[in-house]
Amino acid sequence: MKDILTAPFLIELIRTASNMYRLGYDERNGGNISYMLDEKEAGEYLDLNNVIRTIDTGFDASALTGKIFLVTGTGKYFKNFEYDPENNLGIIRIAKDGTTAELLWGFADGGRFTSELPAHLMSHIARLSIDPGNRIIMHCHPDYTLAMTQVHEADERKITRSLWKQMTESIVVFPEGVGVLPWMVCGTNEIGEATAAKMKEYRIVLWTLHGIYGCGKDLDEAFGLIETVEKAAKQYMLTANLPKANEITDKNLLALTVRFGLNYRKEFLDI
Ligand code: 13P
Ligand code: ZN
Repeated sequence: MKDILTAPFLIELIRTASNMYRLGYDERNGGNISYMLDEKEAGEYLDLNNVIRTIDTGFDASALTGKIFLVTGTGKYFKNFEYDPENNLGIIRIAKDGTTAELLWGFADGGRFTSELPAHLMSHIARLSIDPGNRIIMHCHPDYTLAMTQVHEADERKITRSLWKQMTESIVVFPEGVGVLPWMVCGTNEIGEATAAKMKEYRIVLWTLHGIYGCGKDLDEAFGLIETVEKAAKQYMLTANLPKANEITDKNLLALTVRFGLNYRKEFLDI
């Protein structure tokens, strides 16, 4: 059996989390990540027959029965993952009943997975139905995205258009736009269901006055989506009170979709 601390999936998640902490995306215990592991790869580092304990999830994730996830712990600080992975992170497998998580590694201090597990697992189910290669769901609290949800109307078409017009790369990176949820109580099955419903149409979901969800086939892709939205939101917040001398027009956006062959959300352009 190989040493789990040398597993590329664990090292990559820790590096990503440390980077996010330093960027200010994850204050205190803010944010959470789930990473669906390949069973064969996980089996190189773990005895998959050794269930340390079981934890009730409180919702049905039968569609993920047998799937194994590396997940961040509830109340755990992103800045500490690199120093103490075994207490801050855990590896769980969804049991046959669909509502029990079997702990295979981690949460060594008796802890449990993120309170946002409903949003994560329901979003995994939603994304896998569209993109079988999806592996990551990522949530964090980046400053400018959060600030933008305070001052911008929480309308998907309007907020997507504002983000697309901040910088040329926006529509290239998220041509389908961003989903938006109104303020809701976090950590509940309800916000999980609402997030997953949006994830069927978008890879980015904004939680008004809370943060952002992103997904992808790997950690770079999910993080890259989020940092691009955050950069656009930063441009928006830096210039919101200034007169605009130059602006990306709808015609410019259309030209980008042609140049890059983008499958963009047509109803979000005024053409
Ligand atoms: P957890 O510590 O339970 O992961 O919660 C952090 C958070 O961002 C809630 O939305
Ligand atoms: Zn949060």
